[in-house]
Amino acid sequence: MSTTVTLIPGDGIGPDITEATVRVLDAAGADLTWDRQLAGASAAARFNDPIPDATLDSIKKNRVALKGPLETPVGEGYRSVNVALRRSFDLYANVRPAHVILHGGRFEKVDIVLIRENLEGLYYGAEHYIRIADDPKAAAESVALITRYGSERAIRYAFEYAVTHGRRKVTLVHKANILKFSQGLFLEVGREIARDYAGRVQFEDRIVDAMAMQLVLKPEQFDVVVTTNLFGDILSDLISGLVGGLGLAPGANIGPNAAIFEAVHGTAPDIAGKGVANPGALILAACLMLDHLGDTQRAERIRHALHAVIDEGKFRTRDLGGSASTREFADAIIAKL
Ligand code: NAI
Repeated sequence: MSTTVTLIPGDGIGPDITEATVRVLDAAGADLTWDRQLAGASAAARFNDPIPDATLDSIKKNRVALKGPLETPVGEGYRSVNVALRRSFDLYANVRPAHVILHGGRFEKVDIVLIRENLEGLYYGAEHYIRIADDPKAAAESVALITRYGSERAIRYAFEYAVTHGRRKVTLVHKANILKFSQGLFLEVGREIARDYAGRVQFEDRIVDAMAMQLVLKPEQFDVVVTTNLFGDILSDLISGLVGGLGLAPGANIGPNAAIFEAVHGTAPDIAGKGVANPGALILAACLMLDHLGDTQRAERIRHALHAVIDEGKFRTRDLGGSASTREFADAIIAKL
């Protein structure tokens, strides 16, 4: 039976890479029905609402969505739609696998899955200005909320992921030396959960600044990494950079009642509308979605075709050092399928 998936093409390069991804999935014979919905700037322009109810209802009903990047105004305007979607569907774990696909770079053996707590920390959204005398913005305050419940869910997800995917180690990244309460709680919960997995999954913790250096110097030593929201956001882009850039970095947002799959990158305004964006990250996100739906063999076949196209080197997009268009890259994957 066909599975209905909410499809949000998104903004900027979103529609181009979504089109390419849908063509690849169709060519692979994925039995999916697309329920197309708008969000982000395109929805704000059309309905005066960056997250229309129809989009939320569709995700609620289908429980699975594939989403292009969404534009969020910087420092003003509506709140991040991505954050709102995570909140609406209780998508507590953000999973970002990264391994070397484009060979010949600085590293050959990086294979890291970063799992980020997706709802709390500094991105919880408790922010305000503080007025002093006649300056309404004399100061600003953002609260980093860490709860035992939220930490437990994300960290346990990381350990369960390690067990089910045959991974050997979980590294918990924190800044508990300075933020002794919030980051300290996250670390404390991690140590407790690690005891449940003793003998099955190794556990270590790293302070985020040292982790950033270690990732750049010797990324091969890391396997599954779990961390709080802001650190996860930053480190996952860093890790993408180790393995060939944002163009090949997929992500999954997992909750108890819904999952949203997306590329890690944004709307790439500098190349939007030019037909040159790399659709690889969204195609790989669609593979994570197929895994989630239990169609793992098809996901593997698509990944294999994508890797083969990149290895061959004839059709690479510009971010990968080639000159292929979005469409040509997708066509090459389809030909390999
Ligand atoms: P970005 O990821 O859009 O772009 C950073 C750089 O990477 C640019 O040079 C861009 O051309 C390049 N790039 C990104 N994806 C690419 C692809 N598929 N192929 C080739 N090159 C690619 O980050 P930026 O510029 O910071 O953000 C732009 C907008 O995207 C903002 O409105 C931001 O809020 C939004 N954004 C949305 C995300 C989402 O919906 N998940 C995630 C990150 C940013």
